[in-house]
Amino acid sequence: MLDVLSGKTATVPPVWMMRQAGRYLPEYRATREQAGSFLDLCFSPKLAAEVTFQPIRRFGFDAAILFSDILVVPHALGQTVSFAAGEGPRLAPVVNAENVDRFGTFDLGKLDAVIEAVGLIKAGLPPEVTFLGFCGAPWTVATYMVAGEGTPDQAPARTLAYRDPATFQKLMDALVEASITYLVAQFRAGVDAVQLFDTWGGILPPLEFDRWVIAPAKKIVDGVRSQVPGAKIIAFPRGAGTQLERFVGEVPVDAVGLDWTMDLKFARERIQSKVVVQGNLDPLLLIAGGEALDRGVDAILEAFSGRPFVFNLGHGITPDAPIANVERMLKRVRGA
Ligand code: CP3
Repeated sequence: MLDVLSGKTATVPPVWMMRQAGRYLPEYRATREQAGSFLDLCFSPKLAAEVTFQPIRRFGFDAAILFSDILVVPHALGQTVSFAAGEGPRLAPVVNAENVDRFGTFDLGKLDAVIEAVGLIKAGLPPEVTFLGFCGAPWTVATYMVAGEGTPDQAPARTLAYRDPATFQKLMDALVEASITYLVAQFRAGVDAVQLFDTWGGILPPLEFDRWVIAPAKKIVDGVRSQVPGAKIIAFPRGAGTQLERFVGEVPVDAVGLDWTMDLKFARERIQSKVVVQGNLDPLLLIAGGEALDRGVDAILEAFSGRPFVFNLGHGITPDAPIANVERMLKRVRGA
């Protein structure tokens, strides 16, 4: 995986899955039960390390991703974060013009347990498995901080950014600084590379995409590399579509994640010609299985082989995905 991120072509691509530690695994559900709440799991170094290892043990993926969540950053910025069972995240108070200054200081000490988990994972991971850290990109994290919850269209953050760009910029600046500090701490504790998740980047029109997706990503890449020279960074601006070409032209990442809507020919000709790509199987093919799954895997292998790429899903695996289909996918990717 690290060789591929450095631009080497592999005969069999490295493979991992977004959300590979998660509810589709019975061993995850058991550990999750033991931990109590989802955040208790994130903040219990031993248990977080255990669930990070679970998909590696079961499937032998080429990369392990730190078990945590992008919303631990708002927690360390002073918001109260909780996960209501079956309802998703809740954050309070919501960020607005009156209180934005309260969220300007990132307290890395509040994430000591995460950094401790990084150390445990590094120590316990087989050396051939690449260890990925991550954080949410500022835009995506801001959408939750401003809405206080997940929304289908991120209207609260988009509206605030249009109406009061000065307030929104303050929040984004705080998130850029927090992300740099947090990713550098992850590197120092042992991760080999990091992924920046911009799950909601693709919902923005071009000018806003430049300002709230491209510019912060560039600052984070430069900021991290000024402290960790040569730091390997993967960006995942989900839904970027053709805007991805502008993104890779301006942000010097080592790889970009492609979501499952990405046109494979466009990706091969306009993106993979400039940077390593990662993706992009539709997670629903792991529900469907069978020949539909095989065809989806083959199309990706055909499109991206001959140049460096990382096999992954186009977004996270869903809780109802059968394990047998993950095994089928892996076998097909590895030609076993
Ligand atoms: O990929 C991995 O296996 C590593 C762990 C990881 C989680 N969340 C664990 C998690 C990572 C990298 C994330 C990133 C994340 N979290 C993103 C960006 C990537 C994406 O999937 O879009 C976002 C937007 C979040 C915020 C978040 N966390 C939401 C909206 C939810 C609720 C929806 C859901 O899927 O349950 C979570 C909870 C969450 N994060 C779970 C897991 C395994 C499920 C919680 C549980 O076990 O009860």
